[in-house]
Amino acid sequence: MRPHDIFWSPHYLRHNQRRQEHLATLGLPLANRTVLEVGAGIGDHTSFFLDRGCSVVVSEPRPANLDILRSRYPSLDVRALDLDEPPDEPITAEVVYCYGTLYHLERPAAAIRWMARSATDMLLLETCVAPGDGERLERFEESRENPDNAVNNHGCRPTRDWVWRELGENFAHVCAPTTQPWHEEFPTNWTDSELPSRTLIRSVFVASHTAIASPSLVGELPTVYTRS
Ligand SMILES: C[S@@+](CC[C@H](N)C(=O)[O-])C[C@H]1O[C@@H](n2cnc3c(N)ncnc32)[C@H](O)[C@@H]1O
Repeated sequence: MRPHDIFWSPHYLRHNQRRQEHLATLGLPLANRTVLEVGAGIGDHTSFFLDRGCSVVVSEPRPANLDILRSRYPSLDVRALDLDEPPDEPITAEVVYCYGTLYHLERPAAAIRWMARSATDMLLLETCVAPGDGERLERFEESRENPDNAVNNHGCRPTRDWVWRELGENFAHVCAPTTQPWHEEFPTNWTDSELPSRTLIRSVFVASHTAIASPSLVGELPTVYTRS
C-alpha cells in the first residue's frame, strides 16, 4: 500500500484536523520552539510547528515515508529514527512531539526514557490506550506492511495509568488536558462501562521538565473530559 493512500485517506485527514485543532486550544508555548517530531509518517503534522516559527527535526523509520518527507520538506533536517532502537545520544529539542506513534512500539518505556532525555522542555504525547484502570501494557501485533503500523511488527496498548506512571518517572510534571479532541476515538467518559472494548481509544498527555501554567491542563488523569 502506498503511504499517500493511507495518510491522505478521508479518515486520516479528519483525524489530523481534530487532533491538531485540539492541541492548539491547550494554550501551550509552542511558537518559535525547537521541535523533534517522531513517527512523523509523511509529515502531515509538521506544518503545525513550521507555521508557528518552530525549527523542526522530523523523524520516521520507514524509507518510503522518509523519501516523501525529504521531497516535501527539502530544507528540513529529516532523520531515520526507530524509537525501538534509538541512538545512544538524544536528539535534543525543546519540544518532542509524539502523536500516533507510542502504541506502534515494542519497547514504549525505553522510548519514553529516550524522549525525556531528548526534550529539554516538554513531551506532547497522543497515543492509543487500553481501556480500564491500573498500570497494564498489553502487547498488540501489527503488520509492518502497512505504512502507518509498527515497523518492527510489535505494537502495544498501554493503559492511561501505565503511561502516566512512565511519564512521572521521567518528567517532573505530568499533565492531562481537561478536554479531548472532537473525535470518537477520544472518549470523554472513562468509567469502564462507557468505553468501547474493540475500537481504538486514545488520550493526550503533556509531560514537562519545567512547570506549565495552562488552565487547560490538570495534574491528574481526568475521569470525565469536555471537548475542544
Ligand atoms: C499511525 S502513524 C502516525 C503518523 C503521525 N505521527 C500521526 O499522528 O498521524 C504511525 C507512525 O509511526 C511510525 N513508526 C512505526 N514504528 C515505529 C518505530 N519503531 N519508531 C518510530 N516510528 C515508528 C510509522 O512508520 C508511522 O509513520
